[in-house]
Amino acid sequence: MLFKSVILAACAGAAIASPTKGVPKPDADGKYTLEAPGIRAQFIPFAASITNLFVKDKNGTERDIVLGYDKASQYENDPYHPNYGAVPGRYVNRIGDATFEINGKRYYTQRNDGNNTLHSGTNGWSYRSWETTKVSKDSITFSIHDADNSTGMPGRVEGKATYTLKKNSWIVRLEAKSLDTLTPLMLTQHTYFNLDAYANPATDLIMNHTYYTPYSKRMLANRGDMVPTGEIPYLPKGDINDFWSKPKQLGTNSGDPEWVGNCGTASGCAGYNNLWIIDRPKKQSWKAGKPSFTLKSEWSGIKVEGWSNQEGVQIYTCYWNPNGEVPLKSTQGGPASNGFVNSNGCIAIEYQDWNDGINHPEWKRKQFYGPGETYVWEAIYKFSADK
Ligand SMILES: *[C@@H]1O[C@H](CO)[C@@H](O)[C@H](O)[C@H]1NC(C)=O
Ligand SMILES: *[C@@H]1O[C@H](CO)[C@@H](O)[C@H](O)[C@H]1NC(C)=O
Ligand SMILES: *[C@@H]1O[C@H](CO)[C@@H](O)[C@H](O)[C@H]1NC(C)=O
Ligand SMILES: *[C@@H]1O[C@H](CO)[C@@H](O)[C@H](O)[C@H]1NC(C)=O
Repeated sequence: MLFKSVILAACAGAAIASPTKGVPKPDADGKYTLEAPGIRAQFIPFAASITNLFVKDKNGTERDIVLGYDKASQYENDPYHPNYGAVPGRYVNRIGDATFEINGKRYYTQRNDGNNTLHSGTNGWSYRSWETTKVSKDSITFSIHDADNSTGMPGRVEGKATYTLKKNSWIVRLEAKSLDTLTPLMLTQHTYFNLDAYANPATDLIMNHTYYTPYSKRMLANRGDMVPTGEIPYLPKGDINDFWSKPKQLGTNSGDPEWVGNCGTASGCAGYNNLWIIDRPKKQSWKAGKPSFTLKSEWSGIKVEGWSNQEGVQIYTCYWNPNGEVPLKSTQGGPASNGFVNSNGCIAIEYQDWNDGINHPEWKRKQFYGPGETYVWEAIYKFSADK
């Protein structure tokens, strides 16, 4: 089953990997490079991924602060498939027990994460090459045509990812349209950061990165297998998951008894792989006000601030990254890293709606879309460096 879907994904990729007529071809590594003042980034059609993001640190040295691989071809043959910089789809995160219902009809999706579906299974959008439909100096668009039942979900869907660079900023717009029938739609941009680009001589981990989410006083409670129970607890000040009361280093609570199992008791996951609710002030535009997250590293001085129209954010602190197996890019590394991305060596920050909302009608989230409706996901990431 796994084998079959991998072959299918590879064939689908091969069929549509080339850019639309009139669109330039990528470079020898398979990448497209965009630029704007203070920022340069590279992208590939596979999973509509960002592969490199260069900004200046506090000394003015350029650092590549996202995870990825040197060559586009490495993504297609990657046994770990960490969704580096990818756009999974058509429905991200976990689907509890790999099933859901629409209007009394039950659908079954692939069990690729214990009993559950993760990121729509191994024929999801992050396992496929998208079509490159538009490229300019500072913007690129990838498109995908998702067939009926390609991931066990009904109807055809058209997806689009547009990435634009502006001064010190990366702007992302994801769109999806269901062509035939009601179907689950929920996307994310799955970028992993290490704001030291693994060059910090003291540590190659992100435990000393500081994270702050001022609007996130609630989160989804989970079963041991990280499927939401439906409960949405408030986070008291000082809780292991409190990043709202003040900025906190990601490793602050690593000695607490709650650390192991905080991101899944069934698997013994230690650290973070959870979804926080973003409760922006009502009527406040998503682009206004404080950033919904800030991530900062003291060593490089680099800071990223995020704004999004989404009302949730998942962070994952890379507990599952196997030590000494997943190679760093040639643009990253230094004396503390041994050339690999190690456990706790990165953080994925994924804006998205409340995961498994298709199985929690009581939350009243909009997660099923039909013909004539457009799903829109937007975010702005702004970069700076403290002197
Ligand atoms: C899957 O579900 C079955 C039946 O409920 C349960 O016995 C089993 O422990 C579950 N497996 C995992 C990995 O959670
Ligand atoms: C959908 O795909 C699954 C797995 O690929 C298959 O088992 C199932 O029969 C398909 N359903 C329909 C309605 O085609
Ligand atoms: C880095 O993080 C570790 C683990 O959380 C902590 O013990 C240490 O004090 C931190 N170092 C700095 C310089 O903040
Ligand atoms: C910045 O420059 C100082 C002085 O040369 C050096 O000690 C420090 O390691 C540099 N920091 C980074 C992030 O390169």
